[in-house]
Amino acid sequence: MLQSRDDTIALQVNGDAVKIAMPPLTRLADALRDGLGLTGTKIGCNAGDCGACTVLMDGRQVCACLVPLAQAQGRSITTVEGLARNRKLSALQKAFLRHGAAQCGICTPGMLMAASDLLSSEAKPSRKQVEDAMGGVLCRCTGYAKIVDAVMGVAARAEYGGVGARLERVDGAAKLNGTEKFGSDDAPADALWLRVIRSPYPRASFKLVGVEAFRDNHGLDLVMTADDIPNNGFGIYPTIKDQPVLAKGHVRYRGDAVIALVGPRDAVESATDDDLPIRWQVQDPVYLSAAQTERAPPLHEKHPDNVLVRGWLKKGDVEGAWDQAAHTAEIAVETAFVEHAYIEPEAGYARRIGDRIEVIACTQAPGMDREEVAHVMGLAREQVRIIPTATGGGFGGKLDVSVQPVLAVAAWMLNRPVRCIYTRPESMMSSTKRHPSRIKAKMAADASGRLLAMEFSGDFDTGAYASWGPTVANRVPVHATGPYVVPHVTAATRAIYTNNPPSGAFRGFGVPQAAIAHEALMDMLADKCGEDRLEFRWKNAIRAGDATATGQVLHASAGLAQCLAALRPHWRDAMQSRVTTGSHRRGVGVACMWYGIGNTSLSNPSAMRVGLRPNGRFMLYNGAADIGQGSNTIMIQICAEALGVSPSLFDYIMGDTDLTEDAGKTSASRQTFVSGKAAELAGRSLRAEILKRMNAGEDARLTIESNVIKAGGATLNLTTLETDPRGNVLTGFGSFDPPTSPLDANGQGIPYSCYGFAAQLAEAEVDVKLGLVRVTRIVAAHDVGKAINPNLVEGQIHGGIAQGLGFALMEEYIPGRTENLHDYLIPTFGDMPEMVTIMIEDAEPLGPYGAKGIGEPALIPTAPAIFSAIECATGVRITRAPATPDRVLAALKAAGVA
Ligand code: FES
Repeated sequence: MLQSRDDTIALQVNGDAVKIAMPPLTRLADALRDGLGLTGTKIGCNAGDCGACTVLMDGRQVCACLVPLAQAQGRSITTVEGLARNRKLSALQKAFLRHGAAQCGICTPGMLMAASDLLSSEAKPSRKQVEDAMGGVLCRCTGYAKIVDAVMGVAARAEYGGVGARLERVDGAAKLNGTEKFGSDDAPADALWLRVIRSPYPRASFKLVGVEAFRDNHGLDLVMTADDIPNNGFGIYPTIKDQPVLAKGHVRYRGDAVIALVGPRDAVESATDDDLPIRWQVQDPVYLSAAQTERAPPLHEKHPDNVLVRGWLKKGDVEGAWDQAAHTAEIAVETAFVEHAYIEPEAGYARRIGDRIEVIACTQAPGMDREEVAHVMGLAREQVRIIPTATGGGFGGKLDVSVQPVLAVAAWMLNRPVRCIYTRPESMMSSTKRHPSRIKAKMAADASGRLLAMEFSGDFDTGAYASWGPTVANRVPVHATGPYVVPHVTAATRAIYTNNPPSGAFRGFGVPQAAIAHEALMDMLADKCGEDRLEFRWKNAIRAGDATATGQVLHASAGLAQCLAALRPHWRDAMQSRVTTGSHRRGVGVACMWYGIGNTSLSNPSAMRVGLRPNGRFMLYNGAADIGQGSNTIMIQICAEALGVSPSLFDYIMGDTDLTEDAGKTSASRQTFVSGKAAELAGRSLRAEILKRMNAGEDARLTIESNVIKAGGATLNLTTLETDPRGNVLTGFGSFDPPTSPLDANGQGIPYSCYGFAAQLAEAEVDVKLGLVRVTRIVAAHDVGKAINPNLVEGQIHGGIAQGLGFALMEEYIPGRTENLHDYLIPTFGDMPEMVTIMIEDAEPLGPYGAKGIGEPALIPTAPAIFSAIECATGVRITRAPATPDRVLAALKAAGVA
């Protein structure tokens, strides 16, 4: 029988007897976090879908969000905090650290607990046993491979050193022992709660009626409306602040923020939909197919045709080229909304300190958040401080502000800390998505199998607000040809407003959608030319000395041909095992990509500072947000290498806008290249300072023992030097802004100073009776310039493949229908193929020690390679992503295959 509200539940937690005085129906996850302060147990969905809250109950894994506290009466609960005793990591946690099995770390406690359950009954589990036992925990970062290896006890190499070493994450231990603080893990005890009320309709007007009475009746401190927001518009571009913090009289998508309730938690949560002081007048929504018809009302006055922006590129004479073509191919493809599905919903808090406001929240762009909050509040940027928490995955979705402006305004108005944690459905309905696209493309080759021309047009559904729409519309034309030499090109894009969720940044900025089209055309043309699909790509691959579609000549670090050469033996083997008849078929596909690192033709600077403490330790002031990709570790490796000292001598501060330089946003695969270069220059500058102070030669070896530094026979006691206000005796500073040039009216110029390249091979089995596709193996060859930390590079490639596989086969966000992790499917352990990674290091002269980026390149070729494999197996080209079983079956039936 359940206890009354006043009962106390007695249980054991991590070996200690505890009593929790909370209502018996409290979720165990909440009881552990809020009642006992054990925030190592994470909450990703509160619905048993993600497994982030997995704990052990009497030794068996359970989702703590599904267990009522009363059910834990008398039971023994183990959380991640119970694994690390006396702050020492267990053998399993050490294995996770060595393998790099934790990236952002938000899923890691759940993974560790599920693994502990398995290992308690099976000391040497098989791969299948691991996948089965841990299948209830989702990870969006890792692609699962390194987690499986860690649990199986596969030997892993950890190395200690600077550039090129498999250094364990410098922030790894905190992710494994439960002490890492994410957005929802901490807030002042007196913080009020904030809940955003969102539109249930894609298009409607509304009136607020009886707001004050509603506030008083519910015991709220504040019902915030549009009238409370000083500058009620935000957006990525300084000139396009088209998204209201709170809508004023009209909503443009299901999920638009309308009002915010602020008060004690119970009061905020008690208001039902029927209570709300909102009177709706629902209108017909405008979607992509109708957005440009004469009947369609404009979403924004400034854009009467609903076109946010157009992108355009023209090179050579496409019309003339068709006349010389020996072979042509054309295709139309369509892709869906894709949700970032980071396991950590958006969360944080804000507090007012005098005439300043501080926002502590998960983010991938602290500098941009500061600008945005300052703008919305009408404050000077110096009055705003952003302190990033750990971020449980971002992938582009935490570049736009979410909780930050609304929290800041509320905390300012009430002069009290205010916190907010999005629910999973709220996160999914309100956040940005990958742009759905409709692309038509045509390509031609001459009689010798050389590419001649390409014509590309793409419409991108940018949703209700601009977000990163202009970036996508401008990046896609540059990349439309794929990484090939094509003398004659036209590419036109449009970002179109609709009453859908805002599309934003998602690992690739439109390039993954375009790659599905250009890689399909490459297969088709190879076949028409009678050439092997991989060799046709190798022949046409862009190389150093070639010009891109923007007329940019690549002078170095164009390693696509090497990537393809590395795939050759795998390709030949896989081609031998094709099965193209019967009900279960097997095919192999290949696809290539390129990706311009950093902003398109825009200034893209980053700065870093490093200090030397009197105790002989270095402090890196690192403004680059680590969202799991590992930049905390990478920046230290680079800076240590430049200084000529061990990374173990480093401490760091990440992202705090009061304490670090602006390193720009964590996006566009730019941090290793741009901020890494700044870290290198900062390290070099500090090294020069040290050597100058010691009168030592440039090549002198630095050694540090406690507070004494030695170089070239000279000795310096650091405690004899004066410290600056930051506590450093010497400092170094570095900044880097990669050189680019504006694009002209025809898209000609130098949009990026370097590019990442890759080729991936996919092997897939197709059940032609059911339309089921199972990817069995991916071989991924990536030109990364230089792998600063091979473990982290592999982790990025694995994670990119997992998201690419989801994009290809299962992920489709449909407003109102797939707003949770039960209906919105992302790859699980069981969906992942064997993955082989090959790193090509064609050094980028501008990059730190030759490095460029890997975050986005990892995902881009996966979906086209899978579509190519399906076609290889069945002869049917899938042109609609995701290739769900019903779509595959329909396509097979239409072609007479099924
Ligand atoms: Fe698994 Fe980020 S490491 S979700």
